[in-house]
Amino acid sequence: MSGSLLVDNIGELVTNGLGEGPLGIRRDAAVLVEEGRVAWVGAAAYAPAADRRVDAGGAAVLPGFVDSHAHLVFAGDRAAEFAARMAGEPYTGGGIRTTVGATRAASDDDLRATVRRLRGEALRQGTTTMEIKSGYGLTVADEARSLRIAAETSTETTFLGAHVVPAEYADRPDDYVGLVCGPMLAAAAPHAKWIDVFCERGAFDVDHARAILACGQAVGLGVRLHANQLGPGPGVQLGVELGAASVDHCTHLSDADVDALAGAHTTTVATLLPGAEFSTRSPYPDARRLLDAGVTVALATDCNPGSSYTSSMPFCIALAVREMRMTPAEAVRAATVGGARALRRDDVGVLTPGARADLVVLDAPSYLHLAYRPGVPLIRKVLLNGVPQ
Ligand code: NIG
Ligand code: FE
Repeated sequence: MSGSLLVDNIGELVTNGLGEGPLGIRRDAAVLVEEGRVAWVGAAAYAPAADRRVDAGGAAVLPGFVDSHAHLVFAGDRAAEFAARMAGEPYTGGGIRTTVGATRAASDDDLRATVRRLRGEALRQGTTTMEIKSGYGLTVADEARSLRIAAETSTETTFLGAHVVPAEYADRPDDYVGLVCGPMLAAAAPHAKWIDVFCERGAFDVDHARAILACGQAVGLGVRLHANQLGPGPGVQLGVELGAASVDHCTHLSDADVDALAGAHTTTVATLLPGAEFSTRSPYPDARRLLDAGVTVALATDCNPGSSYTSSMPFCIALAVREMRMTPAEAVRAATVGGARALRRDDVGVLTPGARADLVVLDAPSYLHLAYRPGVPLIRKVLLNGVPQ
């Protein structure tokens, strides 16, 4: 769609740039969109003329959510495993292999349909950027096709061949690490921007994780990792050491982990995934401790069929506020510009001139309602790259 578009009559505009408070709020504002970008932001009274107009009706407008952690390429579901957990079973990550079996057996079209369904679901809930991982194929061909399919929907694709050691390699994990670093990485890298490892007891230890991430870096992939989800461990500090864009989960952190994340030269974001704690009935990470130490925090869904089958960033915001001692403003920042930092993007998560025109119009007068009215569909309209959806 060509021509300019004015989003007008905005009661509360969250810019994450210049404006009031940590969210850079402007009142009675308007946003001019040209060629998919924000061309102008200012008072509605001074808005320039445009070819078309979207009337926000005095409601709040925010940057679209940036969900920097999702596993959308899979088949089947694990509802029975969820029910067992709610009856007291612990989450161990063991169910990943169940999804691997279903994913390998699925057709390309089935996998594609699931990715599109979940991406559509997320978009309707305000997510305009969504990272997508592989990790349920775990063969050269299945990881490559997972990423090929993911890349049809997102530019933020992540190779997670090191999700778990698949059953056929259970007795020889070193051989599996060799496969991941060799032919699997070679087949995956053309379709991936990032590499990720599940660094956890029962998945990959710190030496394996370091080796795999180094192989990925050597072919130009950026580093992110699953760390400190199920217990304390070396993952977070490994991520900081390697200059990872993000370490994700961060549920069990030592003081040394927090210090490493807060270090003056650290660019690694701590991405918190409260949907996983909700769906595994686990203690939530302590966001307050990270924020008070000056760490950059992102919120993401971790959408996957095992530990967190939600695509809803508003749900994660509400959990973060209620359960993780984040203020509503901190949670909204973490779900927008925080996610952008976790993906090393400066063109999304903000509504300032030059940014992508990815924005949401709420069915509410303020961003506060995202946490205040949990479970309510508050996303009235989404613009993606300047195009109303
Ligand atoms: O981020 N922790 C590892 N991977 C996913 C869970 C995957 C699954 O249980 O299928 C996560 O929570
Ligand atoms: Fe995950």
